[in-house]
Amino acid sequence: MEDRLGSIEEEALRAIEEAKDKDGLEKIKVRFLGRKGLLTEILKGLGRLPKEERPKIGRLANEIKFKIERAITERLDAVLKEAGPRVIRGFDPTLPGRPLPRGHLHPITQVLDEVCEVFERLGFSAAQGPEIELDFYNFEALNIPPDHPARDMQDTFYVDDKVLLRTHTSPIQVRTMEVMKPPIRIIAPGKVYRCDSDITHTPMFHQVEGLMVDEGVSFAHLKGILTHFAQEIFHRDTKVRFRPSFFPFTEPSAEIDIQCVICRGDGCRVCSYTGWLEVLGAGLVHPQVFRHVGIDTEKYSGFAFGLGIERIAMLKYGINDIRLFFDNDIRFLNQF
Ligand code: FA5
Repeated sequence: MEDRLGSIEEEALRAIEEAKDKDGLEKIKVRFLGRKGLLTEILKGLGRLPKEERPKIGRLANEIKFKIERAITERLDAVLKEAGPRVIRGFDPTLPGRPLPRGHLHPITQVLDEVCEVFERLGFSAAQGPEIELDFYNFEALNIPPDHPARDMQDTFYVDDKVLLRTHTSPIQVRTMEVMKPPIRIIAPGKVYRCDSDITHTPMFHQVEGLMVDEGVSFAHLKGILTHFAQEIFHRDTKVRFRPSFFPFTEPSAEIDIQCVICRGDGCRVCSYTGWLEVLGAGLVHPQVFRHVGIDTEKYSGFAFGLGIERIAMLKYGINDIRLFFDNDIRFLNQF
């Protein structure tokens, strides 16, 4: 039996030495160490040997088994190295990796950040307020008492009689002035909600509120700042239009339109064939709002504005349906 084991060892080591590739080594492994391999058969038959021979033959067979295994591993290393210097056990570290899909910010977040940066460069700092708001801050403190017809301007989602989803970011004006004394210069970005849906309206959209209160603030400051903003976000030659309007919390009030980039002012479905798209509402803070928060209307004046981020994004990227921003179609979003 010892001679038989000796010749198996010799034969196996020679075959391993002569093997040219991984497949050849695999076959040798099966032939000697596989389930029906030559060495395996001997190990399985140990029980049939005389009792006194079993330990000695068993030990020898196991030693040969380990020698063959080690020889196969070493030869495998060698043949893989011979196959090509870069390949290490079938793995080539110099091959280019598989590209990992990388995400990016939603286009609305990108525009929101860009808008805030323009105002931050002008010295405005960020403020926040709750999305689930009290009727008081959303309407009453902004000079819109219960039953005031101006409540119909914004279709509201009510939680209960006194609580609602804020319809605009203007309540942040009041919350800020309650805790801050002039001079005040803030911008407040956030989500707002209205029961509204068509190609230029969505039930949830983003506004950025701006508020500046100090001595001697006039409509000229508002005009200058908003024109500068439009030219920073769009082109230097962007056409901006100030239209007289009405908001109960500003007097005088204006709506600001930007020339439609989709039709370049000729008129299209997006701008309702007017050549202009309304992007924000603004005005000088109404004395009634100042009174609510205890700011001296003789000494201070201020302006406020609220701009719609989706509308700016539509103009910036030439998008003809606002709802595309929220369909979450990856083919659309990947373009930004
Ligand atoms: C307001 O919300 C006022 N709070 C703005 C304001 C602030 C006036 C401070 C004066 C002083 P308005 O309802 O017009 O105003 O909305 C402001 C902007 O939000 C609009 O110009 C438009 O760009 C955008 N907007 C309004 N409704 C929607 C909607 N459903 N979907 C997308 N954008 C909208």
